[in-house]
Amino acid sequence: MREKIGFIGLGIMGQPMAQNLLRAGFPLTVFNRTRSRCQPLVAAGATEAPSAAALAQQSDVIITVVSDTPDVEHVLFDPDGVWDGLAPGKVVIDMSTISADATVKFAEKLKSRGCQMLDAPISGGQQGAIRGTLTIMVGGDRATFERCRPIFEALGERIVYMGGSGCGQRTKMVNQVIAALNIVAMTEGLHLARKAGLDLERVLEVVSSGAAGSWMLTHLGPKVLDGDFSPGFMIELQQKDLRLVLEWIERIGDDLPGARLAYSLFTEAVTKGFGEQGTQGLINIYE
Ligand SMILES: NC(=O)c1ccc[n+]([C@@H]2O[C@H](COP(=O)([O-])OP(=O)(O)OC[C@H]3O[C@@H](n4cnc5c(N)ncnc54)[C@H](OP(=O)(O)O)[C@@H]3O)[C@@H](O)[C@H]2O)c1
Repeated sequence: MREKIGFIGLGIMGQPMAQNLLRAGFPLTVFNRTRSRCQPLVAAGATEAPSAAALAQQSDVIITVVSDTPDVEHVLFDPDGVWDGLAPGKVVIDMSTISADATVKFAEKLKSRGCQMLDAPISGGQQGAIRGTLTIMVGGDRATFERCRPIFEALGERIVYMGGSGCGQRTKMVNQVIAALNIVAMTEGLHLARKAGLDLERVLEVVSSGAAGSWMLTHLGPKVLDGDFSPGFMIELQQKDLRLVLEWIERIGDDLPGARLAYSLFTEAVTKGFGEQGTQGLINIYE
């Protein structure tokens, strides 16, 4: 029998992910802080819960895709949160990008209630969420991961078990360091091309197919050329991810100069008012 799923956080990523779960035939209950965002899912057959607690009561597996660590803590543990609707045997899957250390603490607390928590952050952007082709990196109990595999398969294509609690989030930090530095490289290169008076279409064509090619150049380069700064992944969320990386790396006594540089550039973009643009909007700090 299909697990009953409760989904919290219907933003850029959560909305299409929840739609894909419905399409795959999972009974779905949804909850979102801004209630109007539940409407497209209710129209597609989901049930709307009046609170995160009510959602947890009706669900076997509760998925969260919200912004940052305090937001996950809020939907899980504040009054009327998931905690208030839990019973032993239920599973929480957090697919947001948040602190690995906090994740381990949340998982321990949930375990005291007889519930397992998986950290399962995602990569692949808004298009990956829409197409159900996300990459999912999972930490937590292995048997729980196997139980939830059909859920992950409705959302993504590459699903990899990384180890115990927090290992999914630590892997996502690695992903975000590489992704952020690729965005810096892509925007600086295109800014240079513009300053050099080159034909940007042709630059994109030739550079994308050589050794400088990247996901960022292929997917976000054309948006830069079109002046399309609508968000697939917001600058302020990329800044948040780099902050998480720097907090973590400081705690383990290491240094990542490239990540520090990327953090300062994304912070400049936020300060200049570009925080709600897509990450390709980083080019606007140069112009
Ligand atoms: N976009 C991407 O390409 C991408 C890729 C990989 C990972 N991620 C990660 O996925 C997560 C979601 O990203 P997104 O792009 O979908 O962001 P988003 O569009 O801003 O959506 C955020 C969602 O979280 C909810 N939320 C935020 N704070 C909350 C709080 N305190 N209480 C209750 N609900 C809260 C929002 O509710 P409202 O509707 O009420 O605002 C919204 O549903 C983030 O951790 C992000 O880093 C994003």
